[in-house]
Amino acid sequence: MEKKEFKRIGVLTSGGDAPGMNAAIRAVVRSGLYHGLQVFGIRRGYEGLLEGEITEMGNHSVSNIINRGGTVLLTARSVEFNTPEGVARGKAMAEIFRLDALVIIGGDGSFRGAGDLHRLGVPVVGIPATIDNDIGCSDYTIGYDTAMNTVKEAIDRIKDTAYSHERCSVVEVMGRNAGYIAVNCGIAGGAEACIIPEKEFDVGEDIIKPILSCRNAGKHHYIVINAEGVGKTMEIAEEIRSKTGISTTTTILGHQQRGGSPTVRDRVAASLMGAKATELLSQGISGRIVAMRGESVIDLDIEEALNMKKEISEDLIRTGKILSLY
Ligand code: F6P
Repeated sequence: MEKKEFKRIGVLTSGGDAPGMNAAIRAVVRSGLYHGLQVFGIRRGYEGLLEGEITEMGNHSVSNIINRGGTVLLTARSVEFNTPEGVARGKAMAEIFRLDALVIIGGDGSFRGAGDLHRLGVPVVGIPATIDNDIGCSDYTIGYDTAMNTVKEAIDRIKDTAYSHERCSVVEVMGRNAGYIAVNCGIAGGAEACIIPEKEFDVGEDIIKPILSCRNAGKHHYIVINAEGVGKTMEIAEEIRSKTGISTTTTILGHQQRGGSPTVRDRVAASLMGAKATELLSQGISGRIVAMRGESVIDLDIEEALNMKKEISEDLIRTGKILSLY
């Protein structure tokens, strides 16, 4: 494990925003100050690092943000930072501002950037934050719970109208190439079928057949959850409509899934992981990713963490299917 003395640290949020990022920023600032570090906020993620949008933060500057969605530091998906020249410029800017270490709050793209900085000798610590929950090294990512609750509420509303009109509703949820939101919200929303990118599917077998067996048993409203990584939501709805004659609507939930006040789970996970990041830095430790393993906060070597993979529980998928039987 690398050990150096860190006095001035920078914190940034990068990639897609996630509810709870503010709680993580607050935790980094307040616990950093508690450990005697000076903390600097970098605006607009890696874009702001490249542009030198860096200002000192105090306890007061993170007051009244734990309850807010989005990120007060703003975020971006930096194209320039994806190049070796961009990363080198980022390192140079950190040196100009005399930042001894950086805390990177974000998802897999942000962690790739953190890995690049680390390999150039910039001390970094990463905190996983994305609604997709698709970071291999961590059981949980900041924002996931809030997003799932937003989706659950949307499905409940869609279900009311699907029931009243005796319709089928196909609901597309976010998750990039992962089906974590879809599979959990399929269960929570009582869906008849749930399609995720990790599993091959057949529209006839996996969607139309369950809908028709529900209809034969007397049901008249149906929810199908489709993960965005599968796509083709309109085509799937059209196939249901043409093959069953059932009136079928589509709803793409989109960016509402990224907003909203974070749940308790997200606020607490973000607070614990933010505090862990500065605890490591106060001990002179960097090149780490902070992660959740069950309810515990752990830290892992960054290179090891970046290569880790995780899989959706087969039990969740199987249980979702069993419980949709009518
Ligand atoms: O990673 C979070 C996420 O919301 C994904 O679920 C989605 O695929 C993507 O970001 C959308 O990104 P953008 O807001 O840049 O369109």
